Amino acid sequence: MEIIKTIKEMKAFSSKARQRGKTIAFVPTMGFFHEGHLSLMREGRKRCDLLIVSLFVNPTQFGPSEDFQKYPRDFERDRKMAEDVGVDLLFAPEAKEMYPSDHQTVVRVEKVTRGLCGRSRPTHFQGVATVVTMLFNIVMPHVAVFGEKDFQQLVTIRQMVKDLYMDVEILGMPTVREADGLAMSSRNLYLRPEEKQAALSLYRSLKRAEELLQKGERKVEKILKEVTGIFLSEPLVKIDYVQVCNPTTLEDLSEIERDVVIALAAYVGQTRLIDNLIYRSC
Ligand code: PAJ
Repeated sequence: MEIIKTIKEMKAFSSKARQRGKTIAFVPTMGFFHEGHLSLMREGRKRCDLLIVSLFVNPTQFGPSEDFQKYPRDFERDRKMAEDVGVDLLFAPEAKEMYPSDHQTVVRVEKVTRGLCGRSRPTHFQGVATVVTMLFNIVMPHVAVFGEKDFQQLVTIRQMVKDLYMDVEILGMPTVREADGLAMSSRNLYLRPEEKQAALSLYRSLKRAEELLQKGERKVEKILKEVTGIFLSEPLVKIDYVQVCNPTTLEDLSEIERDVVIALAAYVGQTRLIDNLIYRSC
């Protein structure tokens, strides 16, 4: 597996590969890999001739009081894991390589970033859209793979690619969970054992919502009441939001007619976790 740290070398590699007629799959990440990341890499591996993964803890998507400094990092561990799943090239630039001191352009996707996580993280999706645009321009992939775990991020990227006529296919992959249902996340590392136990209520509540939908419940109010009830019995969990939305526009629904996404965010102790469940009506 090749490791590249500069933009110049990365662009040269991708240009040459494209000239030779090779297709490129790309998985952008912030590292500290788990099975969720690896599932995206395995899919990318199947789709194209070359698989490129980026590892970059992007400072611009963290708010001033968020965990940028303490975000888990372990390059050696990640390098080994990427190599084992068959990644061809790991792109791991330094922050000053990506953001020189005169960097001043941002990409802002409007409506779909306003609600849900956008409410408590007002600059987050601008940071994500900007860095993903930069990475797409540097890596020049044919296909880019993202996880449904970060559902609002996936919708934002899809909207951005559509609006800006970017020439890349976006692939969304299902959320990978621990055996007990907890969605895998690099931030699960922060959880103490009793918090991890309490965090299971996130998935439990989504499964309860799914059960209600399967039984034919169509009133969002009823579903939200049941879901929030589950958290009231968990003193370590503080809900940020639970919403039932249209999976393309992320607009709130009051009555369920077609597919929906039930998305939630909660603090478990100091750690903010997100999860969601996509319910397809047919
Ligand atoms: P990161 O949190 O490292 O996630 C990288 C990719 O892995 C994202 O597409 C995310 O949705 C996916 N992922 C995370 N947990 C997952 C799980 N349990 N199951 C399936 N996929 C999962 O998301 C980012 O980094 C950044 O915002 C990034 C897009 C790299 C831009 O900086």
